[in-house]
Amino acid sequence: MDERQIPVVQTAGLTKIFKDFWRRNRVAAVNDLNIEVRRGEVFGLLGPNGSGKSTTIKMLLGLLYPTRGRIAIFGHPPTDVAVKSRIGFLPEDSYLYRYLNARETLDLYGRLFKLPAKHRDDRIEKLLDMVGLSTEGKRRVGEYSKGMARRIGLAQALINDPEFLILDEPTAGMDPIGMRQIKNVIRELADRGKTILLSSHLLADVEDVCDRVCILYGGQQRAEGPINELLRQDDRTQITTERLSDSTIERVRRVIRETENKDVIQVAPPADRLEAVFMRTVEQAQAANIVTAGAKSGGDLPDFIGTEEPTDLIGTLVSAADREVHKVTIEQVHASKPKPEEESRKKLIASLTDEKPPASLSTQSTPQPAIDETPRTKPVADQAVIDSLLKQEKDDSVG
Ligand SMILES: Nc1ncnc2c1ncn2[C@@H]1O[C@H](COP(=O)(O)OP(=O)(O)O)[C@@H](O)[C@H]1O
Ligand SMILES: [Mg+2]
Repeated sequence: MDERQIPVVQTAGLTKIFKDFWRRNRVAAVNDLNIEVRRGEVFGLLGPNGSGKSTTIKMLLGLLYPTRGRIAIFGHPPTDVAVKSRIGFLPEDSYLYRYLNARETLDLYGRLFKLPAKHRDDRIEKLLDMVGLSTEGKRRVGEYSKGMARRIGLAQALINDPEFLILDEPTAGMDPIGMRQIKNVIRELADRGKTILLSSHLLADVEDVCDRVCILYGGQQRAEGPINELLRQDDRTQITTERLSDSTIERVRRVIRETENKDVIQVAPPADRLEAVFMRTVEQAQAANIVTAGAKSGGDLPDFIGTEEPTDLIGTLVSAADREVHKVTIEQVHASKPKPEEESRKKLIASLTDEKPPASLSTQSTPQPAIDETPRTKPVADQAVIDSLLKQEKDDSVG
């Protein structure tokens, strides 16, 4: 069978039961999990604290043995050494050597992957730029904030240009700007053919980056599917128009009642997403040159990442454009200014079409045709419900 057809991850009845000191079963951290992660997709493992996300990830990486069930990564057992070299991993807590600076940290990992010195230096600079830490590269990582540590952790996970990236809570501890940047990086990595599995307990973190999600609760799989299907309310119709007068709304109500015998459930101005409002406010402050300290904005994805040309470039770009649908509001406000999203998209397109990848750096990664071409418009109410489901506190039944 063609390797490209094999899912990147497949689990069957995956179960992990932690035992206590007396070998009694204490917690079923993961209970009968059946997931499939396909090539080129961003797969979200969602769930409240303690729902089994990190335990699942550790089993996928071969760091924990399952109590029951099977795992195949690229069709092989996770303990296979050849499999491990194709995976990049951002752990829940980045284990960084406090006394190394950011450049030295990345250099260490570059050496572990046996990258030649010349490539190492080049990649390190590009990765530091991507995560917005090039000016902080000489500071010891022990002094970094949680968000900065996540950024360096992400750079570290990418140093070997892996085909498959596993990110455990990639946006934990990040401010909304960093969160937005990480989400853009994840989306661009997927556009370059990478497969990404990420975990999160915040739906807002993942709703606009994931193609498909699995929602865990108490180690059990409670819902799974393409994110737009999970969020869509099939029994409702939403019409958005420019602001209407009361008399028109009354007439519309009457028409709907007379022709369909149905009621209008809600008439209200559409709610903006808080992220859009926040980003707009910060951009306005930046435009007004208000001074701040902290992490700088991230740069572009390095050109060495997944440099093989996608087979279905148009399809990839079309689906990327569809994913931008929800950003219309923030972009409209800034219609007069150059749009950063658009700029980086253009650069991405240029790098995909013009640049010849250095032969020695190209990977076996094979971009997939667009997975999901449906626009991601979603009713706000759904999100609130799922958010509240996810906002459960950590299950502290275990001491
Ligand atoms: N090494 C361990 N020993 C005992 N229990 C554990 C261990 N690791 C995790 N657990 C328990 O397994 C459950 C799932 O934990 P985890 O996978 O870390 O959740 P999440 O990453 O979703 O927050 C929790 O109840 C946690 O306390
Ligand atoms: Mg965890």
